[in-house]
Amino acid sequence: MGSIFSQKPEAFGLDISDRSLKMVKLAKTKGELKLSSFGNWPVPPGIIEEGEIKDKKRFGEIIKKVSQEIKQKTKLKSAICSLPEEKSFLDVIYLPQVKKEELREAVSYEIENYIPLPVDQVYFDCEIIRPISTQQKQLEVLIVAAPKKLIDDYLKALKTGGLKPIVFELECLAIARALIKGERTQKPVLLIDFGETRTTFIIFSGQSLRFTSTIPISSQKLTESISKTLKVNLKKAEQLKQKEGLEGKKEVFEAMIPPLTDLVEQIKTHLDYYHSHEKKDRLKKDGRELAKILLTGGGANLKGLVGFLIQNLKINVELGNPWINILKSPLREVPQLSYKKSLSYTTALGLALRGIYGY
Ligand SMILES: Nc1ncnc2c1ncn2[C@@H]1O[C@H](COP(=O)(O)OP(=O)(O)OP(=O)(O)O)[C@@H](O)[C@H]1O
Ligand SMILES: [Mg+2]
Repeated sequence: MGSIFSQKPEAFGLDISDRSLKMVKLAKTKGELKLSSFGNWPVPPGIIEEGEIKDKKRFGEIIKKVSQEIKQKTKLKSAICSLPEEKSFLDVIYLPQVKKEELREAVSYEIENYIPLPVDQVYFDCEIIRPISTQQKQLEVLIVAAPKKLIDDYLKALKTGGLKPIVFELECLAIARALIKGERTQKPVLLIDFGETRTTFIIFSGQSLRFTSTIPISSQKLTESISKTLKVNLKKAEQLKQKEGLEGKKEVFEAMIPPLTDLVEQIKTHLDYYHSHEKKDRLKKDGRELAKILLTGGGANLKGLVGFLIQNLKINVELGNPWINILKSPLREVPQLSYKKSLSYTTALGLALRGIYGY
């Protein structure tokens, strides 16, 4: 929690995606949180691909421009930045009891069993999490890792562009901080971030994330499918997607069926994986059954998507509320940022919360 004695600088959240940069700054006054500033900047194709900076020069130019605008809005340059899911790793591992100060070393011996890179090529972090398993003798440890090269590239570009990245955080952790009330659940919840270029699955249970995975099925794929099937350009297809969704013209609905079927299959695969995972057996009985799916990301705004998923998955599906840990219940939007738009800002809101509550 934040402290009045904290020397840590105020910071904003910066969500770095393949096709956009999004910033949120929260402020705390008289114990209440409020939105102090936000912004969204497009990133043209080919500059960042699957989280990797492909064109350093152009990315640098974008950061320079964006950092000037952010400084005007917030007077700050300290940023809590997201790391792309595609290139990062997260797992929960089980270790024999070790002293807290020996944890990092213990993890460094184990981590190569869980990630596909040598330990000297990654930055990693670890944290003991409250156990939800029945095997209380072992420690449950959340490990996260990302390639050094990836982080060093981001660090260099952001610094050169005039920002001060003080924390890099996996996007899934920021999403969970934004969507899970009080950051704890009785039963596991599946969070799905349906974005422009990717969809991320996140299982959260107890007080921690348990699993994450990212696939290339995305809202953009729906637009492309409409464009191809109905022989309209991408701009028109985007308009049709947003206007008609799954509840309007039949031909638009039908044009989106192939990628939506892929999405449903992927959700089923992830649910099957979760249910059959060996770690499941370690869970207490009442902690196994999935409570619900929470949808977020701009793509979650597709009209009729919630109903479509409920029908095809036979599971409780709801839209998430990325303000749940910021505003008083049941508020889910602020005058400057509608609920629909807020779904695109879930990651940035989660990062901004970390900027408020310490890092
Ligand atoms: N009303 C709507 N109906 C359908 N789709 C929508 C609607 N509003 C926005 N979208 C879609 O949401 C997508 C943008 O989502 P979001 O802002 O979460 O993506 P992103 O964070 O930039 O990308 P990613 O996380 O995939 O890298 C776009 O593809 C857009 O078409
Ligand atoms: Mg996103």
